[in-house]
Amino acid sequence: MGRYRFRLCSFLSVLFLPFLLASARLNPFLRLPSDWEESHQAVDGDDSVGTRWAVLIAGSSGYGNYRHQADVCHAYQVMRNGGLKDENIIVFMYDDIAFSEENPRPGVIINHPQGRDVYAGVPKDYVGEDVNVNNFFAAILGNKGALTGGSGKVVSSGPNDHIFIFYSDHGGPGVLGMPTYPSLYADDFIAVLKEKHALGSYKSMVIYLEACESGSIFEGLLPDNLNIYATTASNAAESSWGTYCPGDFPSPPPEFWTCLGDLYSVSWMEDSDIHNLRYETLKQQYEIVKLRTSVHETYYIGSHVMQYGELDLNDEPVFLYMGSNPANDNSTIVGDNALASIPSVVNQRDAELVYYWHKFHHYPEGSTKKLDAQRELADIMAHRVHVDNSISLISELLFGKERGKEVLKAVRPQGLPLVDDWGCLKSFVQTFETHCGSLSQYGLKHMRSFANFCNAGIKGNMMAKVSAQVCPSIPSTSWSSLYKGFSA
Ligand SMILES: *[C@@H]1O[C@H](CO)[C@@H](O)[C@H](O)[C@H]1NC(C)=O
Repeated sequence: MGRYRFRLCSFLSVLFLPFLLASARLNPFLRLPSDWEESHQAVDGDDSVGTRWAVLIAGSSGYGNYRHQADVCHAYQVMRNGGLKDENIIVFMYDDIAFSEENPRPGVIINHPQGRDVYAGVPKDYVGEDVNVNNFFAAILGNKGALTGGSGKVVSSGPNDHIFIFYSDHGGPGVLGMPTYPSLYADDFIAVLKEKHALGSYKSMVIYLEACESGSIFEGLLPDNLNIYATTASNAAESSWGTYCPGDFPSPPPEFWTCLGDLYSVSWMEDSDIHNLRYETLKQQYEIVKLRTSVHETYYIGSHVMQYGELDLNDEPVFLYMGSNPANDNSTIVGDNALASIPSVVNQRDAELVYYWHKFHHYPEGSTKKLDAQRELADIMAHRVHVDNSISLISELLFGKERGKEVLKAVRPQGLPLVDDWGCLKSFVQTFETHCGSLSQYGLKHMRSFANFCNAGIKGNMMAKVSAQVCPSIPSTSWSSLYKGFSA
């Protein structure tokens, strides 16, 4: 879809194809279709694969989060092009983007500056308030009885089936955002995966997860004996990145004041869009996505793509989960040069500010809309400061000035879960929100601090006491927890 990428690819194939063909047999990372057919004949026939299922979910709402729903719509097109049937693709999206009054192309969503519409044909299985944790879990488990609203489509999978789950949104340590409250907590997600495994209703499962601190959803939590393989956009302690943002290169068309995609998400999808996935392993896709998401291993911007769970699945072709677009039959992967790099990206948490800033700039001087945008931006900044300050102060009161600072930031070693007592974490979030107002999308970044309070043995009554001291009156703005309920 991208002109830039297309140019690179045709350039590579014309100039380097003879070289690649010659070197492919020497390089274990490159494989020719003929090599594969010898060793992987079984995967070519659909019969041995069972049914492919996909659950695609965008956890946000609002035009400023355009990119998450754009990612999910694009993922739907990848699955359709790969040959999955609508009855096996379950889409969760708030669906407030395509026809938002801010969308310069009504009824159209793009996921790349020169991209085509990815919204057309997307099934509206779970939209609006039906995008919630309860329905997401019910869909994975194939439990129609537990659904509230929506199309009723669930993963009614059998033991030979392959399942792919893709999530894109904001997150924080141990938590994934939802457009509705509560948020999705890692321990609950892992429990659902274990339950699905116990039902014996899949052969193997692949999960791709884009969110800030997304590694924390699986770190020390996802066992390797469930036949589940996961990759995440970032490790347990760093942001993930939006891309195709206003002011970036490549930039969205000038009429857009929001980011069009997320770096990890567009990387796997733009890779899947152009390759014959019969001959690309999960490991190869991981390496390609990892390199691109690291922005060439700078990590100053960009993040560490991680792998979790049953890593033996690395050798399986992506085809088992996404099928493959017949138009790509002759397009095999060419080392790790397959994708153009994206030189500039925006931290997920700042993408919101980029949106409000460009929105503010867009409207004419003196207009009501400009004033509204200015007020929104000021509100958001004030809320961020309020949340940050409240949590620092709570930590200081609990641990003293010096140690308070350390506790806020302490990161457990790799391999350990974020928190031992998830009930404690959730109750501390509720306590905070009762006194200090909603954490909101931005405040999810403080989950590690709450987790550290729990890990340090702070008791619930102590947490309640200091929260009440720090936030003596319940905020009355839209950030109040009275307005939207608790995120835990
Ligand atoms: C792939 O290459 C073969 C042989 O050149 C050709 O017959 C076929 O049409 C090509 N397929 C596609 C999808 O381009």
